[in-house]
Amino acid sequence: MGIEIVQAVGMPPAIQQELEKRYTIHRLWEARDREALLSEVSPRVRGMVTSGSVGASRALIEALPKLEIISSFGVGYDPIDIGCAKERGVIVTNTPDVLTDDVADIAMALTLAMMRRIPQGDHFVRQGRWPKEKFPLTDKLGGKVMGIVGLGRIGQAIARRAEPFGVEVRYFGPRRKEGVSYRYYDDLVAMAKDVDILMIACPGGKATENLVNAAVIEALGPKGYVVNIARGSVVDEPVLVKALVEGRLAGAGLDVFADEPNVPEALLKLDSVALAPHVGSATHATRNAMGELVLKNLAAHFDGQPVLTRVV
Ligand code: 8YV
Repeated sequence: MGIEIVQAVGMPPAIQQELEKRYTIHRLWEARDREALLSEVSPRVRGMVTSGSVGASRALIEALPKLEIISSFGVGYDPIDIGCAKERGVIVTNTPDVLTDDVADIAMALTLAMMRRIPQGDHFVRQGRWPKEKFPLTDKLGGKVMGIVGLGRIGQAIARRAEPFGVEVRYFGPRRKEGVSYRYYDDLVAMAKDVDILMIACPGGKATENLVNAAVIEALGPKGYVVNIARGSVVDEPVLVKALVEGRLAGAGLDVFADEPNVPEALLKLDSVALAPHVGSATHATRNAMGELVLKNLAAHFDGQPVLTRVV
């Protein structure tokens, strides 16, 4: 049978083909009866393929006693029970770097879409309203101050894109970054008071849950914007939506939500938001590069080599 792998989510076609060529794949995401499939294959399964959206729960990891590696598709690993993987000596890998540029592109696209009302302008033209009405004026990006929450790889790529638009970058995070000249804040409310656009680019998970709360939103104020390309969990979503509905925030650009693919009904009616269906990394080139990294991590491990992009 060769090496047996449980796959929790489908991969891009070329990657899927390669996985099936190299390993015996058990397609958990298509299984009618997941429990039955797991109990049949669990004594033999040595690897798992999952994603930064689907993850791997403690129950799933514990159901696979021979599991050696979880190779995840995505940079974020918040839905993977890392504590459990550590306890059981299971290696976890993710796909950093290869998606940084695309996610930073979407961050800037949402920033412009939200401030210049690109989706609303598109609707306006399509609905034939242009000959009869004037499209309202919008807000200028140049000259604004952007506060980035989490100046990691993606946060820095966003900063590099924002600067040529005439945007001043500042950042908040758990610690000051070496060799970075942007102004640093160790207090998120203090940064929110000083910036026009709050750009969320930090990891998800317990440590950042509801980090962007009522106090942060109030500090941003009615001229402030929120862009989130990280995880819905970082923002207190009901509080964000209420502030947008009541005009206590100027707008939001959102690629991620608390309960994907469900989006709060109230957002769908708002002109001040630009919405995207979690597409930060969703280009052919990047999704294939992420898949290649999933394959390379598995291959390295099963060849007895160090994996390329290890989380734990
Ligand atoms: C993917 C992501 O959408 O990398 C991440 O953390 O959120 C995205 O690239 C996801 O991991 C897989 O669907």
